[in-house]
Amino acid sequence: MSYKIRKAEFTDIDAVWLIEQKTIGSWDYNQFLEELNRDFSIFIVAEDESIHKYDATAYPIDGYAVAWRIADEIQLNSIAVCNERQNNGIGTLIVNYIKNMGYESGARCLLLEVRSKNANALNFYKKNGFEITGKRKNYYKDDDAILMELKLR
Ligand SMILES: CC(C)(COP(=O)(O)OP(=O)(O)OC[C@H]1O[C@@H](n2cnc3c(N)ncnc32)[C@H](O)[C@@H]1OP(=O)(O)O)[C@@H](O)C(=O)NCCC(=O)NCCS
Repeated sequence: MSYKIRKAEFTDIDAVWLIEQKTIGSWDYNQFLEELNRDFSIFIVAEDESIHKYDATAYPIDGYAVAWRIADEIQLNSIAVCNERQNNGIGTLIVNYIKNMGYESGARCLLLEVRSKNANALNFYKKNGFEITGKRKNYYKDDDAILMELKLR
């Protein structure tokens, strides 16, 4: 597998939405469409380039992320990798892309909220350099939010 991280396009939305529904399940289709047109949105996908080469019928999008650039901060709003490809480094590629983009454009940090019960995601973020900065009790209907930050400078 060889992945290219690139800006999301209109034709990626079906695949992105399917991944979201099978993993996180909180955004609706139109929210992704809207992200294509926000000038402060960083909406990226992970495309399996080997599929492109060998199987024209298979869809090559296996992961995505949506982040917002607000002043000198980047808020990571949503990130997911399809269930079949998790734990293969794709999430790390996506986060590294956002980190580099943020660093090069002068951003100070990456921020996010994650469910306290989402152990895989918490470990993933810690492994990628994020630190816990706080907690919001009952932020979600059935869970607390853990606040995390990765300083870029
Ligand atoms: C969280 C997520 C984006 C990480 O992407 P990924 O491509 O699977 O992660 P990577 O392969 O780059 O990183 C691997 C690390 O992530 C964590 N991890 C990811 N998937 C895991 C799994 N299925 N089981 C255990 N740990 C997992 C581990 O810390 C792992 O490192 P380790 O194996 O050395 O312990 C992905 O697992 C996912 O989409 N999860 C469901 C949606 C979600 O929870 N999104 C985050 C919402 S805040």
